[in-house]
Amino acid sequence: MSVFKQGNVAVITGAASGIGRAAATAFAKAGMRLCLFDRNADELEAFAALLPAATRAVVGDVARYEDVERLRDTAYEAFGAVHVLMNNAAIGHGSKSWGARDRWAAILDVNLWGVIHGVQAFTERMLAQGAPAAIVNTGSKQGITNPPGDPAYAVAKAGVRVLTEQLAHDLRNHPGGQISGHLLVPGWTFTGLTAGQGAEKPAGAWTPDQVVEHMIGAVEAGEFYVYCPDNVVSETLDALRLQWSVGDIIEKRPALSRWHPDWKARFELYAAERLS
Ligand SMILES: NC(=O)c1ccc[n+]([C@@H]2O[C@H](COP(=O)([O-])OP(=O)(O)OC[C@H]3O[C@@H](n4cnc5c(N)ncnc54)[C@H](O)[C@@H]3O)[C@@H](O)[C@H]2O)c1
Repeated sequence: MSVFKQGNVAVITGAASGIGRAAATAFAKAGMRLCLFDRNADELEAFAALLPAATRAVVGDVARYEDVERLRDTAYEAFGAVHVLMNNAAIGHGSKSWGARDRWAAILDVNLWGVIHGVQAFTERMLAQGAPAAIVNTGSKQGITNPPGDPAYAVAKAGVRVLTEQLAHDLRNHPGGQISGHLLVPGWTFTGLTAGQGAEKPAGAWTPDQVVEHMIGAVEAGEFYVYCPDNVVSETLDALRLQWSVGDIIEKRPALSRWHPDWKARFELYAAERLS
């Protein structure tokens, strides 16, 4: 039975823009009641004004646990239950493996601790409802196949993946529990996070609406990994990249061999042979 149904309640962090905003729009269309959270007060309030009057908008920072507790309290006071929790807020980009410790702290505080805070604040209350519910944490391919370029972001997203796998395991083993855990892994999506690359959606990127449609279908099908392709990376190419990445360990290749001068061409050949 779908959790995305009329009258059910969704809480979304990072709801003022991009994938969170598209999720709120889709959930509102399905007749769900919404409690939305973002640190961008102007964008959040302007967006909430376009949604049904019962919508609650809470301004705060996922990196601050007391703000996430306030979000939970607002949702339960308004609606008495939460059926979909999307821990989705994140910031990008820009870090190096060493240096800029403050940048590392900021990214981990929001992108990893923000998700931990959501899980900590909501899970007990959601379990106590005794009704079907879902927790969807937004990860990234950067935390799985680990492309170089922004190690702090990749570390945070790897943490989100590991946390969400553990969470899904613990939820399914919880006696009487009816909550499923899911890892949303968007592909290249045209949002506030990536719009720096231009005002028009690049042909290769998905829209946030496409990601949300894919996510709803996958969660309804009971899938844990909601691994999204985009218009340049097919599901098959993603699978080959995943296999190659695990192969680095098994074959004792150098770290991040896909981008290593001695290995890059070998990966490209490996992928091309299997894609043709
Ligand atoms: N866009 C992509 O290509 C892509 C790819 C993989 C993963 N993701 C992930 O998708 C999720 C949504 O990102 P998006 O692309 O829609 O970006 P976005 O920038 O459009 O939206 C993110 C929202 O989160 C809010 N936010 C940021 N820090 C916050 C904080 N500390 N507290 C509360 N709100 C905060 C922002 O104000 C913004 O409204 C993120 O977890 C991101 O890492 C995006």
